[in-house]
Amino acid sequence: MPEGVKVQGMFSQIASRYDLVNRILSLGMCVAWRNRLIQRAHEAQPKTVADLATGSGDVAFALRQTLPSTSQIIGYDFCVPMLDLARQRATQEKANVSFATGDCMHLPIADASVELVTIAYGVRNFENRSQGLQELHRITQPGGQVLILEFSQPTLWFRPFHFIHVRCILPILAGLLTGDFKAYRYLGTSIRDFPDAPGLVEELKAAGFAKVSYESMLFGTIALHKAER
Ligand SMILES: C[S@@+](CC[C@H](N)C(=O)[O-])C[C@H]1O[C@@H](n2cnc3c(N)ncnc32)[C@H](O)[C@@H]1O
Repeated sequence: MPEGVKVQGMFSQIASRYDLVNRILSLGMCVAWRNRLIQRAHEAQPKTVADLATGSGDVAFALRQTLPSTSQIIGYDFCVPMLDLARQRATQEKANVSFATGDCMHLPIADASVELVTIAYGVRNFENRSQGLQELHRITQPGGQVLILEFSQPTLWFRPFHFIHVRCILPILAGLLTGDFKAYRYLGTSIRDFPDAPGLVEELKAAGFAKVSYESMLFGTIALHKAER
């Protein structure tokens, strides 16, 4: 089975508890990490935003609260149960955010049409990262920006603690909360196999981006990359 289909199925299974488990596992810190991305988006003041791998829409709704009402925000994901949750939330909160089905390997978005592309905890799951990053580049307007929030590799001294957390505590705790031990074992492996922050800088440059920089959080375990087309 292709990796993308497996990831799609896994997120469909954990969709209903995804947000709660995230908050518990990160001890609420995921909100502060997300807010860093929102702050950078606010500085850019884009007129059009595509929030890719939007999941239940956390980033898209936070963007709605900070950007002018004239900015268009569309969230894309290839997991329909996640999008269902996002749409329910948009109705409940009367938030002007649209959601659409879209695979980051082949997005249903025109070339050079988006001023700001955001993606939180999505790139790590790409079946083919090089293809996905090129797709992000394709849809970004010249002069536009991409903001990528993702797990990263911690500084040396923090690695043993991180290893125990990601490989042992996290899969067990998340497995108990969701009943899906396999999904969270995958999370540990995907974090382990993801490049460090300078490595992702190189991959973004190879995809065609310029002015690539990053900010590290929590001893390097989380990174926010910013890149321009
Ligand atoms: C860890 S969740 C992150 C959700 C959200 N961005 C957040 O910050 O809470 C990852 C999401 O990425 C989506 N995803 C993974 N690979 C994708 C792809 N190739 N195309 C579209 N969505 C993808 C999954 O369906 C899932 O909803």
